[in-house]
Amino acid sequence: MAQGLSLVIAPKTLLLSPRRGITGEVVLPGSKSISNRVLLLAALAKGSTRLVRLLKSDDTEVMIQSLQRLGVAIDVSPPDGAIQVTGCNGVFSQTGSTAHPIQLFVGNSGLTIRTLLPALVVAMARTGGCVDISGVARMHERPIQDLVDGCRAIGAKIDYLGQPGFPPLRVEGVPLRVAPAITVRGDTSSQYLTGLLQAAPILARQWGQPVRVKVEGELISQPYVEMTRSVMARFGVPVKRETGAELVYAIAPTEIIAPEEFAVEGDASSASYFLAAGAIGHGPVRVVGVGRDSVQGDIHFAQALEKMGAQIQWGPDWIESSCHEPAADAHPMEEDLVHRMPHHLRGVDLDCNAIPDAAMTLAVCGLFAAGPTTLRNIGSWRVKETDRIAAVAAECERLGARVESGHDWIRIHPPQALLPATIQTYDDHRMAMSFSLASFGNTAIRIDDPGCVAKTFPEYFEALSGLCAQAVPVLTIDGPTASGKGTIASQVAAELGFGYLDSGALYRIAALAAQQEGIDLKDERALTSKATTMELEFQGQTALLDGVSVGEAIRQEQVGLMASQIAVFPSLRQALMLRQRDFARLPGLVADGRDMGTVVFPHARLKVFLTATPRARAERRYKQLIDKGFSANLDSLSADLEARDARDASRAVAPLKPASGAVVIDSTDLSINEVVQAVVNAWHQVSVKQTGRLT
Ligand code: DC
Repeated sequence: MAQGLSLVIAPKTLLLSPRRGITGEVVLPGSKSISNRVLLLAALAKGSTRLVRLLKSDDTEVMIQSLQRLGVAIDVSPPDGAIQVTGCNGVFSQTGSTAHPIQLFVGNSGLTIRTLLPALVVAMARTGGCVDISGVARMHERPIQDLVDGCRAIGAKIDYLGQPGFPPLRVEGVPLRVAPAITVRGDTSSQYLTGLLQAAPILARQWGQPVRVKVEGELISQPYVEMTRSVMARFGVPVKRETGAELVYAIAPTEIIAPEEFAVEGDASSASYFLAAGAIGHGPVRVVGVGRDSVQGDIHFAQALEKMGAQIQWGPDWIESSCHEPAADAHPMEEDLVHRMPHHLRGVDLDCNAIPDAAMTLAVCGLFAAGPTTLRNIGSWRVKETDRIAAVAAECERLGARVESGHDWIRIHPPQALLPATIQTYDDHRMAMSFSLASFGNTAIRIDDPGCVAKTFPEYFEALSGLCAQAVPVLTIDGPTASGKGTIASQVAAELGFGYLDSGALYRIAALAAQQEGIDLKDERALTSKATTMELEFQGQTALLDGVSVGEAIRQEQVGLMASQIAVFPSLRQALMLRQRDFARLPGLVADGRDMGTVVFPHARLKVFLTATPRARAERRYKQLIDKGFSANLDSLSADLEARDARDASRAVAPLKPASGAVVIDSTDLSINEVVQAVVNAWHQVSVKQTGRLT
């Protein structure tokens, strides 16, 4: 599990039911690689920088916290979501002492430790001080010796506090020796070089002469170094590449100047999952935030995907993917597709040295190819968040693929059909995100510890489920309690031949489950964890909780009240939202609730807001309860309904209100049949308008 930094309360496992299609547009979170480079440079700079669209994730959080501990002023609260960093001009104000070292925790962020270390060595050369850097257990298995050796060669005092060659580390501020060049190996991680380059302008000023950084061995992940150079250029620091046989970068004594404002690009590695989904699930899917003008090497993933058979389109700050499978039936029904595993991509044999992160996504695409896929020159996978070659091999095998692998390559032979599986994620966000694509196969996939995506993309599963839902025609019916939504929605669903989601039932079941376990209705964490782990199944209209029918029990008025109470909690709503989106299956869905059109299915083809006067609704609910054999009192029912409406409409998250563009129907004086026909007619009208067909 991620180090308690995730923004939502994450479940132990997440069930992804089989998906068929995906379409729509996703605005990417900020690039992790750019965010962490910019944070450190802004901290070291002279002047103040406003960071726009900075990624908010575990990895940026550990960088921000570390810099704050070193005395850098970082304001994370500006109202527009930007972050303001006041640079320290190369001198941290808090550096501790050997008796009281400053303690920095870098989680599992390789970039944070590998760029902070040289910055500390250089910044503390004049001030002295003592800083300990540690991380999660996996971080203490990730190599750092090449970088430590490079720094020690100019006199840095760095000690290993655990295993030699690995974090945790202690850095003591000592004067540094002038050297003709600092040497670093390039074949384990390009992050070492990035770290030295970012610290070099300050060192060059201390030395009064250029700092030359010499790379020994092959330099892997070269595009990341180009990204470093481009970001440094924005801070007024040119990084020259010397001509000659050796790979040497030179930085003259220069001030790092805050650029006032820096807008972070979308994350190209995160884009890979959606572009791949567009290719596997036909798309089109557009990612916004990266495009042909991006400085990130991982955008070249799109070309690799093109080689596998996807159609790719480029804009200045967007990329779109799709794939036309020769379809026997242009409008397939869900049942026709069951057991049909898409194999419409082509297997490829690629050198992935330049796109190590996005290449993991290619491995999973390989499961959907007609032949084997070989990814070469990916040795760096072995020292990432986990040994990614071993992890990808194990999980592809779990899904039924045959896998061959070596020291720095992997070959995936796709299976005829994927096996149902629980994917292990090894505390590696990219394992969770890339293997979520397996849910486009013919089987349900469970993702273990899905919260690990918080490292770079806390809302990944929400974004994915949102786009998958857009591939399905959805009709939403929202409205207050007892407005007749349930009756109308289920009849409309029957008439259109669509599935039906009674979202209120999910809130009621969650409330009942909490009550059965004696969970305090104010305990958001416990409620959310129950809502995510409860085993829920719908057999027709009958709801089963942990295998037991609760259809009757959840209809009690008191359960409805409890549902309304717990519905105010954001993390609980988020957990139920994923479950609700899962109901979007072909040929279509009718969903009723409070926020179906505003939050859960904002791209629904038709949104209806159904209402009736409070008295009419109280009378309907009274009749319903009496018919079911419950006792009821009309006046107290009326008061209860008004109290619930007030709470549902005034809560901070997803309050009850008509979605924009919703068709509002007042059913006070209409029969059920009249309302059903009005909704069905409206559906046909928009369908013809949007698709040229009736449904
Ligand atoms: O529709 P219902 O009475 O079964 O819903 C019970 C409660 O659940 C309702 O008072 C508020 C909450 N709810 C919600 O917040 N959002 C939904 N989409 C559905 C229900």
